[in-house]
Amino acid sequence: MAEDFKVAQGSKADMYADLFEQAKSIVSTESDVVANMGNVVAMLHFTFGFWWTGFYRVVDNELVLGPFQGPLACTRIANGRGVCGTAWNESKTIVVPDVDKFPGHIACSSESKSEIVVPIIVDGVVRAVLDIDSAQLATFDEVDKIWLERLVASIAERLVEK
Ligand code: SME
Repeated sequence: MAEDFKVAQGSKADMYADLFEQAKSIVSTESDVVANMGNVVAMLHFTFGFWWTGFYRVVDNELVLGPFQGPLACTRIANGRGVCGTAWNESKTIVVPDVDKFPGHIACSSESKSEIVVPIIVDGVVRAVLDIDSAQLATFDEVDKIWLERLVASIAERLVEK
């Protein structure tokens, strides 16, 4: 049951490992990609207390806002623009310790201080990105990168339409 979701306290890596298993299990019984994106966002957001956690989907060659938790956000981002558009364009995770130092960063919220964007790649094509913002500087490191990449890679088929 989704209501049973609870991550045991521990190191950040331990918490990601626990969340990873539960997230795989929760999406395994649901084929609707919006429902799955919504639950994955909620799991990450409330486990780690991020400022903003959400998906942008590639729709007609733009990133369009998907399920998220946090304040209102920009709805459309062009390829190559901001951290999200750069992660899409380069097909790789971007970790930003200080958003003010990232050229072209799109400030949806002035409270956001650091950010990580992980592309969701299916058959070699970026279909969406997972964007997480923190209200503190330098929140994201290799542990976040490794575990978030592992998470979205293992459930990618449950997050995007065939
Ligand atoms: N900061 C992002 C825009 C999305 S918001 O953070 C939710 C960017 O530069 O792409």
